[in-house]
Amino acid sequence: MRHRRALAAGASLLALAAVGACSSGSGHSAAELKVSGAYIPQPALADMAAGYFTVTNTGGTDATLTSVTSGFAASITMHSTTDGRMRTAVSFDVPAGGRLVLSLGGNHLMLMDLKRKPLAGEKVSLKLHFRDADPITVPVPVKPAGYQPGK
Ligand code: CU
Repeated sequence: MRHRRALAAGASLLALAAVGACSSGSGHSAAELKVSGAYIPQPALADMAAGYFTVTNTGGTDATLTSVTSGFAASITMHSTTDGRMRTAVSFDVPAGGRLVLSLGGNHLMLMDLKRKPLAGEKVSLKLHFRDADPITVPVPVKPAGYQPGK
C-alpha cells in the first residue's frame, strides 16, 4: 500500500467554476447534504484506521468536502484510489443532485495518530467540513474487521 501525494487540482477548479456560476443569482437552491452508511472497520493496528460514508446532495448547488476532523484522530486525510493506488485528495466534490461515495477499494478516509484502537460496537464522532455547506457531525459505528456493507 503506497501513499502518494497528488493535488486534485482539476476537480477543485471545476467545483470553483460551478460555484461561481451559481452565485450570480441564477436561482439555484442551496446544497442539501445528508450523510449515510458511515462506518469504520476495526483496524488491525492501534495507530491507523479507514473510514467510509456516502454524502448525498439533494440541493441545487454543488458542495465540496474539504476536510474531516475528530477528537479521536489527530490526523485525518482523504484518499482516492486509482488502479489500486492510493493518492491524497485535497477535496471531494458532492455534486448537486448527486453523491459522494467513500467505499472499500475506492475513495476513503485515513485516520492516523489515534488516541487508542477503536473497537467494534463503539461509535466515533467525525465532523465533515464543506465548502458551500454547513459542517455535519456524524456518529460513526466501528464495525468488525472485514465488515462489508450489505453482506
Ligand atoms: Cu489510503
